[in-house]
Amino acid sequence: MCGIVGYIGPREAYPILIKGLHRLEYRGYDSAGIALLDGSLRLYKTSGKVSDLEDKIKGNNLSGNIGIGHTRWATHGEPNDSNAHPHCSTSGNMALIHNGIIENYASLKKELINRGYHFRSNTDTEVLIHLIEETKLQEGVDLTEAVRIALNHVIGAYAIVLVSKDNPDMLIAAKKGSPLVIGIGKNEFFIASDASPIVEYTKNVVYLDEEEMAVIPRQGRLKIKTIRNQEKTPYIHHLEMQLSAIEKEGFPHFMLKEIYEQPRSVKDSMRGRLNASKGVVALGGIIDYQQAFVNARRIIIVACGTSWHAGLVGECLFEDLTRIPVEVEYASEFRYRNPIIYEGDIVIAISQSGETADTLAAVELAKAKGAIIIGICNVVGSSIARATHAGSYTHAGPEIGVASTKAFTAQVVVLALMALSVADKKGTIPKPRFHQLINELESIPEKLEKTLEVNQQIEELSHIFFNARNFLYLGRGYNFPVALEGALKLKEISYIHAEGYPAAEMKHGPIALIDENMPVVVIATKKGSYEKVVSNIQEVKARKGVIIALITQGDTTVRQMADYVIEIPETDEIFVPIVATIPLQLLSYHIAVLRGCNVDQPRNLAKSVTVE
Ligand code: G6P
Repeated sequence: MCGIVGYIGPREAYPILIKGLHRLEYRGYDSAGIALLDGSLRLYKTSGKVSDLEDKIKGNNLSGNIGIGHTRWATHGEPNDSNAHPHCSTSGNMALIHNGIIENYASLKKELINRGYHFRSNTDTEVLIHLIEETKLQEGVDLTEAVRIALNHVIGAYAIVLVSKDNPDMLIAAKKGSPLVIGIGKNEFFIASDASPIVEYTKNVVYLDEEEMAVIPRQGRLKIKTIRNQEKTPYIHHLEMQLSAIEKEGFPHFMLKEIYEQPRSVKDSMRGRLNASKGVVALGGIIDYQQAFVNARRIIIVACGTSWHAGLVGECLFEDLTRIPVEVEYASEFRYRNPIIYEGDIVIAISQSGETADTLAAVELAKAKGAIIIGICNVVGSSIARATHAGSYTHAGPEIGVASTKAFTAQVVVLALMALSVADKKGTIPKPRFHQLINELESIPEKLEKTLEVNQQIEELSHIFFNARNFLYLGRGYNFPVALEGALKLKEISYIHAEGYPAAEMKHGPIALIDENMPVVVIATKKGSYEKVVSNIQEVKARKGVIIALITQGDTTVRQMADYVIEIPETDEIFVPIVATIPLQLLSYHIAVLRGCNVDQPRNLAKSVTVE
């Protein structure tokens, strides 16, 4: 949560900062601010979005070729002007932006107040800037050393960037628990929470590691050391990301663009890993752990949100294909309940951003207890990806819409590839079935193209339902996680209450909600528990519920029973979640648009939840 950006070099900083903040706005969008240094240090901030900041400061002096910017997702202190970042030192000579939570802020604040500091905001962040100023004064050290010493007193998570009028030729950045990337240009540096504000200017980046701080000079070399004062040699990564990947390219929203990207993103997830004609499935990233999978007595999947839903599909895939028992855990629950982990257990952490604080903490916990940790992340070089022993990236490309779409389908594809490769090695599925499945998986991108043809029909359907107050989503087996994900998408972006339920379990509660005003979306694809789902549809119809059924192309049985049907191409039962999720993404998208909601930046949500 919160996006941070900084620039130092020969160009005007303001346009770079504002553009960067727009790109990072998916991380938080309740207030925004910038600080520019040009002889004097000028701060501009406001509640609201980055565009509100732009409007508010039009006509002001925005010059300066060193600056920092912030877009906020509030944790401590409501989203108003004074709680917006940057926060300024008492002298007015330093300004700081922060992403994370300072857990011991209350005790630090008390101490600082006792020493005469006056606080202008209710944030945890403001203690940092005063603490740095106080350290500098008390210890008589330079700014870099003051930051280093101050950070040693801090408990919690931070990515910070600091600008100082007294040190006009450098920015200081530091990271623990929240991500920070430094872009290295020609005589200029860019700093950001992720690479999206940087990629336009340079492809050479350094990812700060845990408890590292960087002194970023106007001229000369980037210096990195740990907050324990150990010098580090910066390791330069080359970004593969293209600029087009983070632009809307004619789509009205990132979410729609990302839904439409799925035939390609799913193909990218399989690229170099699946060759059906040669009968090969191989994930290079986990090749050294194939035997560990074969020997594993248990797999635990940890994740949050949509990634957790992908984990539920993963459970079905691994249990079906490899016969290894799987538990799927909310990372936030797992980390706080003293879980039992046996030696040789494999923990798979799934995360689009690779930065979700709870998932990262679950990974650290399981690692400390001796588990083998495998990551499935989308963002290359992210904290979770780096904290795991091995893993496979989803390669879905940057996902900017806050509601996750293409990351989900890519996660399911990677889980399917993993399960298939382990099953083949372990000999738990007959060879003909293995070949049939990998052939089918290879044809999925084409089927997704076909699936997207329902867009128009779903848009029309949305006109009928966009005023509904509740929705129920039902599915069984592989389609139960699809029901959960469909309901989550609708809640997230349209603010309509929706529940996903196992279709048979409906009888034990939700059935009481059903009347003629209740749209019930049923994933009723052929095979699996099809016959049972058909009975569940009858149960809903008997109570006058309105059925929107997702059916396999050509199915006439459910077509006759349902009020509305959406057809999807036929595929093997185990791959249905990849296909069936797409119409549900579209349904939530069109309903949210008709309700006038901000699809890409739904209220109260953030793309990357770096606080617990
Ligand atoms: C947030 C996002 C969700 C996402 C979840 C987990 O809540 O809004 O879309 O599914 O975090 O994020 P991750 O990056 O770990 O997959």
